[in-house]
Amino acid sequence: MDLRRRYTAADLGVFTPEEASRFLPQGDADPQHDVILAWELLYRLEPELYDRLASAERLHPGIVDWLPRDVDRIAEVGAGTGRLTMELIERGRHVVAVEPALPLRLILQRKLAAADHGHRARVIHGFFDQLPLPDDSADLVVACSAFTPAAGHGGETGLAEMERVCRPGGCVAILWPNHLGWLTARGYRYVSFPGRMSVEFASYADAVELAEVFFPRSAAEVRRLGRRTVPFEVLGINPPRDLAFKVAAG
Ligand SMILES: C[S@@+](CC[C@H](N)C(=O)[O-])C[C@H]1O[C@@H](n2cnc3c(N)ncnc32)[C@H](O)[C@@H]1O
Repeated sequence: MDLRRRYTAADLGVFTPEEASRFLPQGDADPQHDVILAWELLYRLEPELYDRLASAERLHPGIVDWLPRDVDRIAEVGAGTGRLTMELIERGRHVVAVEPALPLRLILQRKLAAADHGHRARVIHGFFDQLPLPDDSADLVVACSAFTPAAGHGGETGLAEMERVCRPGGCVAILWPNHLGWLTARGYRYVSFPGRMSVEFASYADAVELAEVFFPRSAAEVRRLGRRTVPFEVLGINPPRDLAFKVAAG
């Protein structure tokens, strides 16, 4: 069943009070009419399903290459199941991955435990608007497919928090931004990497199953293509090929 119809108001009880205050500011809502809320339920109710999608939607290699190499301290916010974190542990000696959803933190911890440099990352609970990290404590503060201008998912307070945690001369980067104008109006610069990009599902069966959940309008085309690799444009989403960044005043 597709994401827009997958959950109902009866599922909202999965949120902790801290989560509810961010994701249900009015006290109640219907995930069938609020797809952002449906994503938050997905992270908590079917985290492995989410991880199958995130693992298939790989970042453009240009993004990973662009990130500073060999830095001491990196803070990532909204780390999820580690699509970016697993790259960051190759670049930073100390990585803090902040993630509010417990089921996603558990998957990320499992991946880190199996990775060569997994010990470099610490996974902690937290939200954009109240980062549990000291001032000036990271050389790079980054979020991938997590930050939005909405208060519950970052907003003005969340951006100010990321900038507070970044040391002078360090970098705040928002990867795969979906509200670019909002960020450029706040002094962020834009970088995009060219080339054709596809979602690399684990198998054709996975492509069909995940398209039915996440891209129902493209599911027939995914079936017709008959492949596990599906161009982003077929799915109707912009590929993870870009970022917005700001160097903190030093
Ligand atoms: C689309 S997922 C991206 C996860 C990961 N960064 C990646 O690229 O695979 C969005 C993530 O943002 C997290 N998130 C949502 N609201 C948040 C908040 N207020 N503060 C911090 N993280 C949040 C979610 O729990 C989820 O892990």
